[in-house]
Amino acid sequence: MKWYAGSDHAGYELKAALVGFLRGLGDEVEDLGTTNAADSVDYPEFGARVGRAVVAAPGAMGLAVCGTGIGISIAANKVAGIRAARVTDEFSARMAREHNDANVVCLGGRVTGPGLAEGIVRAFRDATFAGGRHQRRVDKIEGLE
Ligand code: RB5
Repeated sequence: MKWYAGSDHAGYELKAALVGFLRGLGDEVEDLGTTNAADSVDYPEFGARVGRAVVAAPGAMGLAVCGTGIGISIAANKVAGIRAARVTDEFSARMAREHNDANVVCLGGRVTGPGLAEGIVRAFRDATFAGGRHQRRVDKIEGLE
């Protein structure tokens, strides 16, 4: 699976850990920044980078991390075609794929520890969109864009 990853300074450490985790699973990950936790940056920039990259590469997934996962998910969702889900548990991560066809998973580096975060990303990665009635609903989301 191909991933695009991005974070602000507050999400940098967790993003770096998850990029390593995904690469360890054999996935290809392009890290779109930021590059360190010391320099304060603005999460909308990185949410937009991830969103635009995912939309440009059909089938790719996005990983976006800020302090809470909230701001970067709001930003990523401004990109047409992006369904970014900010999740804090594995069940929601799986549902985000199966029911919502989410293409970006968002986490909070100040909220979720690395062990749980790995489980969340793994659940998101391994789940498949169920289609059927869910496709109709996703189409309605796209109709709002
Ligand atoms: C940065 O301090 C923080 O506001 C940001 O990482 C994020 O939590 C916003 O939603």
